[in-house]
Amino acid sequence: MAQTKEQRILEFVKQNATEGDPQSVLDHIDKYCSQKEWAMNVGDEKGLILDNVLKEANPTTALEMGTYCGYSAIRIARLLKPGGRLLTMEMEPKNAAVAKEMIKFAGVQDKVEILEGTTEVIIPSLKTKYGVEHADFVFIDHFGKHYTSDTKLLEFSIAFLK
Ligand SMILES: C[S@@+](CC[C@H](N)C(=O)[O-])C[C@H]1O[C@@H](n2cnc3c(N)ncnc32)[C@H](O)[C@@H]1O
Repeated sequence: MAQTKEQRILEFVKQNATEGDPQSVLDHIDKYCSQKEWAMNVGDEKGLILDNVLKEANPTTALEMGTYCGYSAIRIARLLKPGGRLLTMEMEPKNAAVAKEMIKFAGVQDKVEILEGTTEVIIPSLKTKYGVEHADFVFIDHFGKHYTSDTKLLEFSIAFLK
């Protein structure tokens, strides 16, 4: 058995989902996490809300705080228009490693960049290090205590929702 829950989710996906098919990857993460082990993915119910808001915004540059296993990143990436990109931040290296494989297996790796580290460190360097001049969609899904401070930091660091 794989070592961590996140690795077990990845293994289940690799063994059962269709490679290169983001929806199949999402369905199998949902299946594993509803039938075997709960995990903190946004999931299929709230995921539909995320889908609808994303379609409405139709972003060129999307940001995410809190990648975890890559579930919501794949959800977002599968709906991005051509040329659209998602930068997603994750502080836990083991989660980032799982997400990297999950995103590649889903076939959306060209649309997603995982930024490893804490939001507090990454956000101020978004413009200088990652060339992010503005973002037109932000999914905040890391830990609640950071929501307000990171939103303010983002407002200071890049033009937000322009
Ligand atoms: C709720 S999970 C994200 C779930 C993911 N958005 C999804 O739906 O698939 C929260 C993640 O945020 C990460 N995290 C928490 N605080 C963070 C911070 N300050 N900077 C970067 N990542 C953070 C955690 O390690 C965890 O993987």
